[in-house]
Amino acid sequence: MTASSSHPAAHTSAEQSGPDLSGVRIALIGAGNMGGAVARAFLSAGVAAENLQIVNSTSASSERAAAELGATAASRSEALEGADVVVLGVKPYQVLDLLSAIRDSLPAGAVVISLAAGVTIAAMEAALPAGMPVERAMPNTPIAVGEGAVGLMRGTSVEDAQHALVHALFARAGVAVDIAEEQVHAFIGAAGSLPAFTYLIIEAMTDEAVRLGLKRDLAASLIQQTVRGAATVLSETGAHPAAAKNAVSSPGGTTVQGLAAMERAGVRAGVAGAMAAAADHSRQMAGD
Ligand SMILES: NC(=O)c1ccc[n+]([C@@H]2O[C@H](COP(=O)([O-])OP(=O)(O)OC[C@H]3O[C@@H](n4cnc5c(N)ncnc54)[C@H](OP(=O)(O)O)[C@@H]3O)[C@@H](O)[C@H]2O)c1
Repeated sequence: MTASSSHPAAHTSAEQSGPDLSGVRIALIGAGNMGGAVARAFLSAGVAAENLQIVNSTSASSERAAAELGATAASRSEALEGADVVVLGVKPYQVLDLLSAIRDSLPAGAVVISLAAGVTIAAMEAALPAGMPVERAMPNTPIAVGEGAVGLMRGTSVEDAQHALVHALFARAGVAVDIAEEQVHAFIGAAGSLPAFTYLIIEAMTDEAVRLGLKRDLAASLIQQTVRGAATVLSETGAHPAAAKNAVSSPGGTTVQGLAAMERAGVRAGVAGAMAAAADHSRQMAGD
């Protein structure tokens, strides 16, 4: 597994963290929640606004998304002409039809990157002319703020330089790792869907802090800071979570009382169940 990781705070400019991407032309077909997050990561990596061409289902929607993202709206044919990279951010059920519709307009050598869950590289390669480079990227939405994770799956016709370009595009997303396609279901449980699970836990903690008497804005900032801080302790010290937990558990103290309540409520099983459900659904979507 190879990884590229760059924290936004660790670099003062995109140029310092990788190649100059200002001349790379991107056609982004489908700039919704995930496509929009990918657009922000690519802009942060140094792609020029005029070279990030947005195509949604109507020109009004393309204009709206482009204005919000700081990119450029285009028609599908305008965006595809001269594109180095074509990103598919539409819903999974649309991907193969879209590939059939654009296969004759794809510039030679353009790399197609699909964000879709459940649509395999083999299915996409079969929908395209032989030898077309295809990758899958499985991102999560925190890539929009440089704190996400993306799993990259390389198709059979992708050259090393093309794969390096895909890594460079995601270099400011947080962490970008190469994964085997069969790992994508686990990746969805452990990263793709995980922000939503974390939001639910943070919401529950915030609601309870309000019930305990804190004002909501104070409760929200305390809990976000504490969740961020706990993750940073683990990543910076390399401590095992159990060791970090035991280190703050005094005999008979407040923390052990709370931890025992969490175990009795089945929090561990609930979290594992959520991740397994996401991975299982991904497997079903792919027909695996
Ligand atoms: N959301 C996540 O956390 C997440 C995580 C990993 C992967 N993904 C993958 O990301 C993909 C998109 O999911 P999403 O949640 O971002 O969906 P979404 O917010 O509904 O975005 C879909 C986008 O596709 C556009 N679109 C629809 N039909 C189109 C067409 N014929 N031509 C061009 N654009 C078209 C929509 O434009 P209009 O608004 O104009 O209709 C919209 O911008 C899915 O394949 C999903 O599996 C999502």
